[in-house]
Parts: sequence; C-alpha cells; structure tokens
Amino acid sequence: MQPDRYAADDDESPASGVPSSSDLTGGLIPAHVACVMDGNGRWAARRGLPRTEGHAAGEAALLDAVEGALELGIPWITMYAFSTENWRRPADEVRYLMGFNESLLARRRDELHEKGVRIRFAGRRDWRVPKRVLKRMDESIEMTAGNRRCTLTMAFNYGGRAEIVDAVRRLIADGVAPEKVDEKAIRSRLYYPDQPDPDLVIRTSGEHRISNFLLWQLAYSELVFDEVLWPDFRRSHLFAAVRDFQQRQRRYGGVT
Ligand code: FPP
Repeated sequence: MQPDRYAADDDESPASGVPSSSDLTGGLIPAHVACVMDGNGRWAARRGLPRTEGHAAGEAALLDAVEGALELGIPWITMYAFSTENWRRPADEVRYLMGFNESLLARRRDELHEKGVRIRFAGRRDWRVPKRVLKRMDESIEMTAGNRRCTLTMAFNYGGRAEIVDAVRRLIADGVAPEKVDEKAIRSRLYYPDQPDPDLVIRTSGEHRISNFLLWQLAYSELVFDEVLWPDFRRSHLFAAVRDFQQRQRRYGGVT
C-alpha cells in the first residue's frame, strides 16, 4: 500500500498529553467552534512543494476536525476557507483555491451528509466567485439542508468587516430609523443570525491574529493559538483546545 503522502506527522500531536473525547464530555462542550486554517503554505514550503499542495493536504485535517467535533457533540463549526482579502494572493493560487473548494465539496459532501452535517456558506456571492463553484455550493446546501447533527459553515469569500457592511446596508434598505439601531437590529442582519457566537476560536500555525474573521461574533470568544500547521491538525488538536477552553473562566465583562 502507498503511504498516505498527506498523513499528519506523528510528532505534531499536542505536547501536553492528548485528551480523549470521553475525558472532555463530562465538562462544558463549546456550542460553536470556529477555526482559522492557517499554515498550509508553510507546510508545503518545508517539504519543497508548491503552496497548493499544502491546501490539498489541508483537506484531511478539515475532515478529521469535523469528525472530532461530531465525536464531542459540537453542534456548530465554522471554517475560514477563503477571505475577502485572499483575492490578493497570486492568481494561480486563487484559481487553485476556487477549484479546490469546488472539488472538495464534490468529494466530501456525500459523506458529510451521511454523518448528519448541514453545510452552509458565509460570505459574499460576488462576481469573482466562479459560477461552477456557486453551483456546487448550492447543491451542497440543498442536499444537507435537513441535517441537524452539526452545522458546518464554510466562510468563503468572507470578511468580518464586509459582513458588518452588508448588515448596515440591509438596515438602510429596511428603512430602520437611527434610534431603532441597536445590537439586536444589527445581529439579526448578519449572515446567520440563528448561529450562536463562537465559544472557541482556534488558529493554527502560531500566528496570533484574527484576520477579519467573524469580527462581530468574536466579542467574547475564547481564543486558542496552536503552533501546528493546518495540514497536520487532527481531532487531537481540537480536543486539546477544548480542554484548554474548559479551564477558562468566562466573565463577559462581569465578575465571577
Ligand atoms: C486567514 O489568514 C486564513 C484564512 C482565510 C484561511 C485560508 C485557508 C485556506 C486558503 C485553505 C483552505 C483549506 C481548506 C482545506 C478548505 P490570511 O492568510 O488570510 O490572513 P493574514 O494575511 O492575516 O495571515
């Protein structure tokens, strides 16, 4: 058998002992986990491969993270797959990422559907997103619309500032008077008002930035930064982040 060329490095497991899902299910499980899947390019560069190979290797990480979330019973997951700023990347890489996201949906939607995952997309459906990608997105949404075990939102052509701009545009289009503009009025015009704010945000690759991800929703999220490069991320890293989350004290501006 061919060795899996994209298999995660064994020595990339979380350093301080890996909790199993049963170690965690007695504690508070986050209702919504959001991930910034960062480090694909560096993973590839370390192997002398083109950056696109790093994205390809990120697919297994994405699927294993979803499996881990299902194992823990996390009902909402959001994955940052392409930002409104990522159009600035080299044209070849952008083209690759469009095709990759489309083919990933084609390859994986059946198994996600069988596992009870509802697939949605947060972001702008603008002219830059190729029609065939939009078509694949719509098919995936339609196929999985009835699933409720877990909702996987792919943030695609997504920007936190763009989402707030779009909400303000809707407020104006709805004719909301200035004195009626409050947090509820804005929240109800975000892309998915039904979704709870993320309890936990994980960013891989050692970068300590939000990079325009879910700016409104992250107000009180717990942040975990992991050194692991995204293609080496596995559910064990998710479990380690959830253990970290379970040890945090959330105060929401109050006192404990
Ligand atoms: C933000 O960092 C990170 C993202 C928007 C994630 C991008 C992820 C991919 C392109 C790969 C998707 C992979 C799969 C498996 C679907 P940034 O680089 O946009 O921001 P920065 O410049 O602040 O670091």
